[in-house]
Parts: sequence; structure tokens; C-alpha cells
Amino acid sequence: MSLLEVEDLAVHFPITQGTLVSRTVGHVYAVDGVSLTIEQGETYGLVGESGCGKSTLGRAILKLTEPTRGSVRFDGRDVAALKGEELRKARRRFQMVFQDPLSSLDPRQSVESLLQEGMKAHGLTGGHARLQELVDAVGLPKGSLRRYPHEFSGGQRQRIGIARALCVEPDLIVADEPVSALDVSVQAQVLNLLSRLQAELGLTYLVIAHDLAVVRHVSDRVGVMYLGGIVEEAPAGDLYADPQHPYTKALLSAVPTPDPEAEDRRERILLAGDLPSPAAPPSGCRFHTRCPWRQADRCATERPELRQLEGAPAGHRVACHHAEAIKAGTIRPHEVDATLVDEAAGFPVDGPDHASSVQEILGR
Ligand SMILES: Nc1ncnc2c1ncn2[C@@H]1O[C@H](COP(=O)(O)OP(=O)(O)OP(=O)(O)O)[C@@H](O)[C@H]1O
Ligand code: SF4
Ligand SMILES: [Mg+2]
Repeated sequence: MSLLEVEDLAVHFPITQGTLVSRTVGHVYAVDGVSLTIEQGETYGLVGESGCGKSTLGRAILKLTEPTRGSVRFDGRDVAALKGEELRKARRRFQMVFQDPLSSLDPRQSVESLLQEGMKAHGLTGGHARLQELVDAVGLPKGSLRRYPHEFSGGQRQRIGIARALCVEPDLIVADEPVSALDVSVQAQVLNLLSRLQAELGLTYLVIAHDLAVVRHVSDRVGVMYLGGIVEEAPAGDLYADPQHPYTKALLSAVPTPDPEAEDRRERILLAGDLPSPAAPPSGCRFHTRCPWRQADRCATERPELRQLEGAPAGHRVACHHAEAIKAGTIRPHEVDATLVDEAAGFPVDGPDHASSVQEILGR
């Protein structure tokens, strides 16, 4: 049994109009039909552009936002059915770490009282020695317990946020953009801390980030989200080595590689158009308005299921009607929809030469 099982989860926020009598005039389809499982001790990385529904999904899993549809099972139990004392007990087992630790930490409380408050909420008590152990475990300096959040650097504040999540001995931590607010050099330290704590404490993580590099670092498996749905999911190595979904291909084409020669050859696929509004998601495949491989059949009319392709490594699933043909190279990206950027020139370029090189890169 998986620690977390999410089935067809949806969160639709009503859009209301009118001050005296408010009526619902539409919905923001923030999360719309997400299924995923996370095994005990695993790290699942969730990536996608701003606004695609990552935080809403994280919050719905932790029952901080009420889902519109679907189910969340934690350790075999239906989270929606939990109430009162049972819900409080279950809440201890799943904790959230936020992007901006300063806004999630009360500035008037010392670190000691912040941690104690977290424990008290779950009927736990922590003596000074236990709290000292915690701040040592997350690598905060001596004397930190007496100090206040504003006295710490961004990286240290994130360590306080992690200590606060840890103090109730959770099983699952949802870390929502845990390092986005930090300098790159500090990002690696905090990610390493999360990995070390996972190994020591057997924690399970859902790590949310818009940055593919961050997720790659820490994840066993990665899910790529686009407009409320997961479009591709795979063991991290497989996803980065062989992206199948057109959206993932485009995202990865924008990531610099450390190898200078490969970096010289790297060409970016810029997607046509902006991210559509989640209040009016495109019909059929939600990516069809920007997809360079879009076909006349099915793409605009039928929503593709997340499915395992024949011959792909186990667990590599993709939501695209034409994934096999794209992989085989029998359908090609349309030049008109994909804008290729010549990075040396620094501006978008067109023309048959470049179009064929797009195809070479992508038709692999
Ligand atoms: N409480 C809410 N009421 C109405 N709409 C909301 C609410 N929370 C989020 N949304 C909308 O739902 C969509 C998804 O938002 P969400 O915060 O989940 O995205 P995200 O992927 O976490 O983005 P980011 O990378 O910017 O954090 C957005 O269009 C957002 O405006
Ligand atoms: S289903 Fe069609 S539009 Fe969607 S990703 Fe696949 S080819 Fe592109
Ligand atoms: Mg977010």
C-alpha cells in the first residue's frame, strides 16, 4: 500500500460577481483530475509553470483546501472522511513547509515558542533538550532557540520552517517551493538538509517547484503539471533523459546543461502563446493551443489520459494521444507554432534551416 493515494482530485474555485447578491459566474479549474501515488520514504517532485495548480494540489492533499471531487487516501484512510479528533491526529502526520518562511513564522515568537506552539497544537510537549536536538538536527547555530525569526538569514529561516514541520514527527512533508526564495548557493544546502533528514527519519516528501533543476536534485519520481493536470510522470532519471510529452520537451529545452559542448548545441523551443487562463481551459488536450505537434484529430476534442507507453521504462506515463508517433518521429513539430530562439543572436529566428534543426533535436 502506498503512503499517499490521490485519485481524480479536483479543486474548482468559484468566480463570483455582485456585491449584494453574489452569484457564481464561472470557476477557476485550479486542479482538475489529478491521480498520483507516493510510496513511503519516496520523494515525488511536482513541477509546472506558475498558476498551473501545484500549491492548490498540495493544499488539497493536506485537507487545507476542500476538494471539489476525487479522493485522497493517506496510509489507507480516506482523508475526506476524517473529522474532529481523528482529523487532528492525522494532521500531525502530514506537514507543510512553505516558500516564504518569514510570512509563515510569527515574528513575535522566539524559535523556542514557535516550535512549542507547533507541538502543543498536536497535544505534544517538548522540553528544552528536545527542542535543542531539533535545531541542531536542522543545522541552526547555538542559541537559536532564544532568537526571533527576523534575526536569521533566509536559509536559516527555512531551517526553522523545517524544524517546525519536524517537531511533530510527521510521515509526509509537502514542501511548497522550499528553496525558491533563497540564493542558489543556499538552495543546495537546504535541499541537502531535506535529503539527509529523509534518510535519517524515513520521511516521505512531495516537493513542489517551478524549477526543474531543483526537483531533479531531490526527486525519485517527477510529475509535470500543466493547467490543473499531470501531463507526464516518470522516475526522475527517465524524465530528464527522455521526455515524451511536448510540454516537458519544451520545459527541458530551456534548462541549461553543465556540459559546455552540449550547452553550445542547446536550442530552446519557445512555446507559442501564453499559458491559457485556468478559468477557461482549452478543450481536449489542454496543451493543444501551444503544442508544436498538435494534430487535427483528437487533440482539440478529447482529453488524453495519463498512460504507460509500450516499451517505455516502468512508471513512465504520458498524457498525449500521439506520444508514440512523436517518439517514432513519424509526426513532426510544426514550425509555425514553435518559435526557435537563436541564443547567440538573442532573438527569435525563423526559416527552414532552423526549422529542420528543431526537428532534429525534438524528433529523437
Ligand atoms: N483561494 C483561491 N481562490 C480562487 N482562485 C485561486 C485560489 N487559490 C488559487 N487560485 C487560482 O488557482 C490557480 C492555481 O493556483 P496555484 O497557487 O495552485 O498555482 P501554482 O502552480 O502553485 O502557482 P505558483 O507557481 O505561482 O505558486 C491560479 O489561477 C490561482 O489564481
Ligand atoms: S495530445 Fe495533441 S496537443 Fe496534446 S500534447 Fe499530444 S500532440 Fe500535443
Ligand atoms: Mg504555488
